Amino acid sequence: MATPAEYREEAAFFGHVLSESRKPPPRTVLDLGSGSGNVAFHLKARFAMTLVDVSPQMLAVSRTMNPECDHLLGDIRTLRLGKTFDAVFVHDAVCHMTTESDLRAVMETAFAHCRLGGIALFVPDELRETFVPGTDHGGHDREDRGVRYLQWTTDPDPSDTTILVDFAILLRDGRGDVQIVHERQTHGLFRRAMWLRLLRKVGFTASVVSDERIRDVFLCRRRE
Ligand SMILES: C[S@@+](CC[C@H](N)C(=O)[O-])C[C@H]1O[C@@H](n2cnc3c(N)ncnc32)[C@H](O)[C@@H]1O
Repeated sequence: MATPAEYREEAAFFGHVLSESRKPPPRTVLDLGSGSGNVAFHLKARFAMTLVDVSPQMLAVSRTMNPECDHLLGDIRTLRLGKTFDAVFVHDAVCHMTTESDLRAVMETAFAHCRLGGIALFVPDELRETFVPGTDHGGHDREDRGVRYLQWTTDPDPSDTTILVDFAILLRDGRGDVQIVHERQTHGLFRRAMWLRLLRKVGFTASVVSDERIRDVFLCRRRE
């Protein structure tokens, strides 16, 4: 539903944080949960990117946009490639981790693929402390089809670690016919302190980098 243009500003921020956090700057970057490759579209100019997603369809979209990147099918909780990278990047796919054990499993995957002296950058959409229920909308047109969506995020039980994200999606085909699809996703929502505790438990040195316009991100190092 998204296009690379919507990710330009935040991708520039992530690229800056990755480049400035290590001397020499990272060359190889593993993107865990890369989706259709919108962030990678911008980062690939600075880094050699390897993209991993559990969805063959999302990987197929990304391959057409990012043919110069390596693409791999895998679950970011269990993936073990047997090699390491200068940096590991975990963007909004981490929101699909709804339990502490799944979140920790992704952190362990990042740690296993981060070289000694390397860095990992985790970018959750939301943290428990700053979460606000709300709505969003978007979409775009191509010659042969168009999409518009309304996104409605709610938190039925503020005492647990999940929120609901409901999408009402309108899909217009080449003949102008429109169908509506409802999709409900359950996303994880964790406290900053929980993030930092788990990152340190798996072996990272972790800190929060705050950016007013983008969001808080977790910058981690794997000690030499
Ligand atoms: C919002 S999309 C990512 C968009 C991406 N940041 C981009 O730049 O285009 C979230 C992705 O997480 C992936 N995902 C969810 N759970 C996963 C898992 N356990 N392992 C790998 N990918 C997963 C989904 O397949 C989906 O492609």
